[in-house]
Amino acid sequence: MTTDPSLSTFLSQARELLGDRAVLTDAEGFAPYANDWRQKFFGKPAAVVFASSTEQVAQLVRLANTHEVALVPQGGNTGLSGGATPDDTGRQVILNLSRMTRIRARDQDNKTITVDAGVTMQTVQEEADKMGLTFPLNLTARGTATIGGNLSTNAGGTAVLRYGNARALCLGVEVVTADGQIWDGLRGLRKDNTGYDLRDLFVGAEGTLGIITGAVMALHPKPAGVMTALACLPDPVPAKAAAQAVALLQIAQQHCNASLTGFEFMTPSSMNPVSDYYPQFARPAGLGTPEQSCVLLEVSHAESEQAATALLERVLEVAMEQDLVVDALVAQSMQQAQAFWDLREHITMAAAEDGLQVKFDIALPISSIAEFCRITEDKLRQAYPGIRLSNFGHLGDGNLHFNVAAPAELFEGLDRQGRHDACRQYVKANEDCIRRIIHDEVVARQGSISAEHGLGILRRDEAAHYKSSVEMDLMRRIKQALDPKNILNPNKVLRTNP
Ligand code: FAD
Ligand code: MLT
Ligand code: ZN
Repeated sequence: MTTDPSLSTFLSQARELLGDRAVLTDAEGFAPYANDWRQKFFGKPAAVVFASSTEQVAQLVRLANTHEVALVPQGGNTGLSGGATPDDTGRQVILNLSRMTRIRARDQDNKTITVDAGVTMQTVQEEADKMGLTFPLNLTARGTATIGGNLSTNAGGTAVLRYGNARALCLGVEVVTADGQIWDGLRGLRKDNTGYDLRDLFVGAEGTLGIITGAVMALHPKPAGVMTALACLPDPVPAKAAAQAVALLQIAQQHCNASLTGFEFMTPSSMNPVSDYYPQFARPAGLGTPEQSCVLLEVSHAESEQAATALLERVLEVAMEQDLVVDALVAQSMQQAQAFWDLREHITMAAAEDGLQVKFDIALPISSIAEFCRITEDKLRQAYPGIRLSNFGHLGDGNLHFNVAAPAELFEGLDRQGRHDACRQYVKANEDCIRRIIHDEVVARQGSISAEHGLGILRRDEAAHYKSSVEMDLMRRIKQALDPKNILNPNKVLRTNP
């Protein structure tokens, strides 16, 4: 129990407001909320409070203002940058919105759905399906990640190439401001030029400017045919395979245009742990050699499955003629298509089983990817002999997860715990220098150090290192204007406490 009188008063008033069962102060119950999904960041919250309505969120924020208690907004706690993890002072309170699960409205003709912030991505996908439409935002954590979290991180995923990221799919938001007012911006409009775009200020703000309590999300017509293929690239050198993947992308875009809905690159070192830890989702036996990288292509067609198949087969034929693809499988059933996606989607889970990595989420102009991979990989291998470079990602968006794992020799013969400890120590000792090598190469090519996961705490100081003083100053002034008491997610995105 806290000895801080203002925090104690806040907590007892929160209990009156929400009921005892919505205010968790027993540290034993904190585990699912206090640490991040990767177990990289470990927080010590004073409490976890669960709001069930916008009005409750607003009242809590007003209480937090009165007692100057910092709130860390949280949805499904699946974020990968530590944005939803409190600090270790024991003074911050997690405000979890996963109990806000109402579907507020469905509009068939406008192709929109209005939901509470705590509704999961998967539920929105299922609701869209019932309406005969599709909600195309998609990522592996869909069953737990919430719309509020998706919007606050401006999440990407595997369909950005065709449908855009969370921001592009959001037409309106409802927000509780840092002083506890409710802004109803739930407009289902595709055009609205009435002044500053406040919606876009809160999207991607990682809970530092306001708390998103509801959203209007855009839905799309369902394509009549969706076809998936796994293509194997010839060059066994991963950086050269990346160049071949870029060339394959050009062919796929030329033939398919907007029908190309997925283009995911996977090097062997990203796929191998899937075979080790999730053998049921391993790369199909006999597809190329284990040294070759793969691309997962998805083509969607408004008219028919045959039309989608024809496009996909034409792309693969042209790519094979140009020696950019050596082998390919076009899924013959929904189950086989799902198996291709299972391989892709289990990369992150398998990596987590394998041990902590230095994680990256970079964006580059597509024209720079081949050169970036060649130069950066050389530099890393020279500086860190034996590292395992687990490069994979949304190459069609110019977004790679260029992750670095510890050399295998460091943990040979150790059990699971020993391996995890060795990986953690390796990351701790080397992450700053590894980041500098990779991010310098990214920034030199006008890339971004966070394409879709956000800054949180993980990349906060990296962003400050690379951004101009003008940009940093504008960001600070926005934070100061919207959250002058620094109540909302302090020290995330920007350093706001000394
Ligand atoms: P949380 O983790 O709870 O929070 C994330 C951030 O948003 C925090 O800063 C938090 O304070 C803030 N926040 C949460 N809810 C609110 C709210 N209502 N109002 C204001 N602030 C809020 N991301 C991608 O972009 N692409 C991927 O392909 C992808 N794949 C993933 C795969 C796995 C296996 C996992 C574990 C994660 C993946 N992610 C991916 C990370 C992704 O950002 C999150 O899964 C998701 O968008 C966050 O939703 P959440 O509800 O879990 O948010
Ligand atoms: C993905 O693309 O699978 C996600 O962004 C998760 C990750 O980067 O590990
Ligand atoms: Zn990703």
